[in-house]
Amino acid sequence: MKNTYFLDSMRAQEKWRQEDSINLLPSENSASPQVRALLSSDFGNRYTLPINTEYAGEFLENAYRGTRITTDVEKRAEEVCREVFGSKHACVQPLSGHIAAMIAIVSTTKRGDGLCAIASDKGGYDGYGQAYIPDLLGLRASTLPFDEGVWNLDSDAAAMQIRKQKPRLVILGASLILFPYDMKPVREACADAGSTLVYDGSHVLGLIAGGEFQRPLKEGADLLYGSTHKSFFGPQGGIIATSRKDLDEAVRKNLTWRVVDNVHWNRVAALGQALLEMKRFGPQYAKQVVKNSQRLGRELKERGVPIMFEELGYSRSHQLLMDVKELKAVFGKGVNDFSVMMEKSNLIIDSVGRLGTGEITRLGMKERHLPELADLFVEAAKGKDVRKKARALRNQFDMEYRFR
Ligand SMILES: Cc1ncc(COP(=O)(O)O)c(C=O)c1O
Repeated sequence: MKNTYFLDSMRAQEKWRQEDSINLLPSENSASPQVRALLSSDFGNRYTLPINTEYAGEFLENAYRGTRITTDVEKRAEEVCREVFGSKHACVQPLSGHIAAMIAIVSTTKRGDGLCAIASDKGGYDGYGQAYIPDLLGLRASTLPFDEGVWNLDSDAAAMQIRKQKPRLVILGASLILFPYDMKPVREACADAGSTLVYDGSHVLGLIAGGEFQRPLKEGADLLYGSTHKSFFGPQGGIIATSRKDLDEAVRKNLTWRVVDNVHWNRVAALGQALLEMKRFGPQYAKQVVKNSQRLGRELKERGVPIMFEELGYSRSHQLLMDVKELKAVFGKGVNDFSVMMEKSNLIIDSVGRLGTGEITRLGMKERHLPELADLFVEAAKGKDVRKKARALRNQFDMEYRFR
């Protein structure tokens, strides 16, 4: 292998994904140059490990020295996290959304308890299926009633089920999420059943931070957690926010040596920066994301792309959903083959039929740019090579000058 293989790969990746292509994956976003600088900084080489234990007859607050700045960075990141999510407590240690979920679940359940979440075939996160986190933590998983016709939780039926089953934990939130939930009936049922209600905001975290979609902590969730790199445009990682002191204490007990050790301080510093950016222009960004979803949905639908839920305005999130059966009827390809073909034109989408507007909004696209994007999409969907046009459109936008 050439000594420069990995550096060459980096350049090829940067050119492809930052210059030549347009990203419509709802699970991804682009971090600012400042966030990227922090990710490659000295913080990424360091430890700080507050252990607060006796060792050789002395009290050890921290296992390491040289931690003065790093320790402060964590405190400041937590501070701005509390401000952005309006919570009394915040934790920036989870290395990802999945790890945040593990910490939240292990802090609110014990072995043998029941957990209820949205089914993965209704867009719920696969990790809550019996074979995954529940199996690992000795929990019994069940699913919440869901109305596919409006792609939403059936809140009243869910409330009835919660009162009957009395699960220890109810998780709202999903990987395919278009519309906010009516949380009131669920919150009331959880109060009656003695269940803890948590919200996995992995996908919609950037919208929640900007005051769009819904405000889970205000609407009754005991705890909010999620990934920081989907609609939230930070570094890859996770956060947990709660206003309940007992839950915060339980979370803290499950950090060092249980679910995490070194938490990658370059990520924490970068997350702090992304949170500051969110504080400054989060509302403007989040509003634009939703407007862009709705407009892109309309423009694509008018051009024959089978975007679902026109009657509901397509979406209230950063996601749109294509009807995959119709897609095959219209363009002659199953959704996986369709996504492979789109990639050849440097339009990056997933292989389940979701389209995402987080990254294009982060780059600065507004409603007026979306007819052109929809034209490109349809040309590519018909098998034309639109790489040049995609690059030209992409290069009208430069993160350096947007949302700063
Ligand atoms: C709803 C939901 N929760 C949790 C996760 C896991 O997040 P991460 O990939 O950051 O570990 C995902 C990932 O796609 C998700 O969609």
